[in-house]
Amino acid sequence: MRHGNVDLGLLRTGAHSPSVFALNRSMGDGTPIVDFCIPCNPYFPTPDMFAALAQNLESILKYYPSDSAEITNKLCGVLGLHQKTVAMANGSTELITWLDHLMIKESVAIPIPTFGRWTDQPLETGKRVDMFPLQEADGYALDLEEYVAFIRSRGSRVAVICNPNNPDGGFLPRREVLRFVDALTDLDLVVVDESFIDFVEAERQPSIAPDAAIRPNVVVLKSLGKNFGLHGIRFGYLVANPQIAGKIAKTLPKWNLNSLAETVVHMIQDYESEYRESLRLLARDRYQMADELGRVPGLTVFPSQGNFLLVKLPPGWSGVDLRDYLLTRRGLFVRECGNKLGMTSQFLRFVVRPQQDVRLLVEGMLAYGRYLHGESSPSLSAGDDRYGTPSTALEPDNLIPYPGRRGLATATAN
Ligand SMILES: Cc1ncc(COP(=O)(O)O)c(C=O)c1O
Repeated sequence: MRHGNVDLGLLRTGAHSPSVFALNRSMGDGTPIVDFCIPCNPYFPTPDMFAALAQNLESILKYYPSDSAEITNKLCGVLGLHQKTVAMANGSTELITWLDHLMIKESVAIPIPTFGRWTDQPLETGKRVDMFPLQEADGYALDLEEYVAFIRSRGSRVAVICNPNNPDGGFLPRREVLRFVDALTDLDLVVVDESFIDFVEAERQPSIAPDAAIRPNVVVLKSLGKNFGLHGIRFGYLVANPQIAGKIAKTLPKWNLNSLAETVVHMIQDYESEYRESLRLLARDRYQMADELGRVPGLTVFPSQGNFLLVKLPPGWSGVDLRDYLLTRRGLFVRECGNKLGMTSQFLRFVVRPQQDVRLLVEGMLAYGRYLHGESSPSLSAGDDRYGTPSTALEPDNLIPYPGRRGLATATAN
């Protein structure tokens, strides 16, 4: 279904958000979208890095990359990891897929809500997924003792946690995570997905990657797309003891990493201070953003150590309507969480962005609130309507002309 120039139908299929490419194509007019949906570091790579990549683009695209073992060795050198304990792949999603194929035999426990592939992947291959529901009343905090008791009661053979978790950004201190994995040494596998851990500032060394390398059944997963702000390149890695890491590495195709990934792996050591600075700026923005969102009456903002904030909308607000409103009227792309298991449409996830973008978001939400209460017409506010007026005429008694209220599905199964 089209609304303004944006194809809102793109937002209503599947468990994941549409790509920014697909949305831009649907708009067709080159108007940029401000992306609050895809959790990417906005301060990295630096413009210098992009310029260097652009300068070498022709040879990067023309030639085969080195094989994945060589690229992995370089990454290990840069990050100070033992190469036998690392397997590198085309995004951590590829590793989730192979962990499922190779190491999840019958059942896996996972707290929900979380990243959809952790529930969908094993379900797609016929495994039993034991879902441990996190509670809104606890701010979605994960109690590891209760989770261990749940794993024991279900007899799950594999256990997963995401630290920080997506979509709430909940964080567990390193010592608690170690206690957790050490309580489960009899399981086939314990996975700690640390895809967002570089954004944590609550602890100086929050990762258990070095500990995973010397444990019998622990895998730590890292995504490089989020922290390096390069989702499109698709790279991530895991750390585990040499037997597990070797098993996964041997299964992966020889040239599963592309030349852009190889180029970036060779660049990052020269930009370490810029990278650290990008994380510092992001942590600052996270505080400012939570503060700024406090201007929206009735909005609940959950504490996060990730590069996103989960919010609960005020009573009477619809996440689907608000998402469509922000996109069609303000060009702001947000993640509505109704299609995540364990969430409802009352929840949105906002990627942390610089303050000037957050002001646009807050103004958009305040305008939506006024509109809901009948105080303004959505098509008339200043700065509004960048993407055209809705095709539905607005009547005073028809204050919700958005597709979500007109019978379109608001949530899929997960
Ligand atoms: C917790 C978690 N793990 C893994 C991934 C996948 O990351 P990648 O882009 O490296 O495949 C995501 C993506 O959002 C995620 O939220």
